Amino acid sequence: MTLARIEIDEFRCLERARLRFDPQYNLFVGPNASGKTSLLEAIFFLGRGRSFRTRRLDRLVRQGQDGFRLVGWVEGPPARTTVLGIGGTRQGTEIRIGGAAAGSAAELALHFPPQIIDPEIHKLLEEGPQRRRRFLDWGVFHVEPSFLEVWQRYHRALRQRNAALKPGSDPRASAVWDPELLAAGSALDEMRRRYLALLGPLLADYGRRLLGVEVALAYQPGWAHGETFPEALARSTERDRRFGVTHVGAHRADVGVRADGHLARERVSRGQQKLLAAALTLAQLAIQEARAPGSGALLLDDPAAELDGHRLGLLLELVRELRVQLFVTALRADLPGLGAPGRMFHVEQGRIEAAAEPG
Ligand SMILES: Nc1ncnc2c1ncn2[C@@H]1O[C@H](COP(=O)(O)OP(=O)(O)OP(=O)(O)O)[C@@H](O)[C@H]1O
Ligand SMILES: [Mg+2]
Repeated sequence: MTLARIEIDEFRCLERARLRFDPQYNLFVGPNASGKTSLLEAIFFLGRGRSFRTRRLDRLVRQGQDGFRLVGWVEGPPARTTVLGIGGTRQGTEIRIGGAAAGSAAELALHFPPQIIDPEIHKLLEEGPQRRRRFLDWGVFHVEPSFLEVWQRYHRALRQRNAALKPGSDPRASAVWDPELLAAGSALDEMRRRYLALLGPLLADYGRRLLGVEVALAYQPGWAHGETFPEALARSTERDRRFGVTHVGAHRADVGVRADGHLARERVSRGQQKLLAAALTLAQLAIQEARAPGSGALLLDDPAAELDGHRLGLLLELVRELRVQLFVTALRADLPGLGAPGRMFHVEQGRIEAAAEPG
């Protein structure tokens, strides 16, 4: 799948843009605050139904306007061209796929699944487990067809169990949800383990090439090692009742990233953290590409930020090997390492102009 065209209206500082993209490499060049990241954010939103910068929709609507509109034309399997449309206001979004209302934002990604590497990517390693869990689950979603349904079942059971644990509720009411929670939670755990068995070796290879270190993943399922989920839940029930919340389970899972045996968060520099997080994203994209060749898209926001020329070169070499559709921003047109862009655009004060085609 490739994003062939996009229409953007009233999104961030972008008042109106009509763009045709290259199936391989698109480069957006412009000074600070011109709208480069906003443009990537619009492309990302089209495939993920959310921003990578904020959860607040009011930030995305152009100042003084009531709502934004994004439309994208995606070419390739499963259908020849699928039109994705998103209308957003400060209150919510409306998503249409091929003209019909979509059931959930996750359906967008079946047509256009973009990944992003941006200057904030180190947060994947630095911050709490939520980001890593979401990263992990995005990967699992692309290789396990039943993932979304099981994930939704798990979270429904968790919500119900937590509601039944609130003070004053009948202690037996929460136990009603245990079988469903255990079944869905154990299934999620197995899917995540299978996925990490694919991701680990790729990550190790990228880690060696990018950083020259041995990178390993340490999975924590959301309960203590050496225990099964049913054992952990049984042991936690007393405490769960006291605090009115479920303390163990797949919703508490995490993946630690270790470099040469040390937890990356505690040991490596900011630049190294960026490279490690980028390696994770590229490994995930490589798995996605192996499953569905030609399906991936990668957004690279200012890849030159905080990386020295040598490391940047190594990173872009890996990116090039993946052969996914690229959307790259840079302050200057002479970004080395990716060759000549198929299409180049100049971004200036919220306006985006395609540069003249070579020849
Ligand atoms: N909702 C909005 N309405 C109007 N303008 C906005 C909105 N949100 C952000 N902006 C402005 O959009 C401009 C462009 O921001 P953006 O982050 O896209 O720039 P950029 O080209 O990526 O810059 P940099 O090179 O510094 O990363 C900024 O001046 C910002 O203040
Ligand atoms: Mg930017």
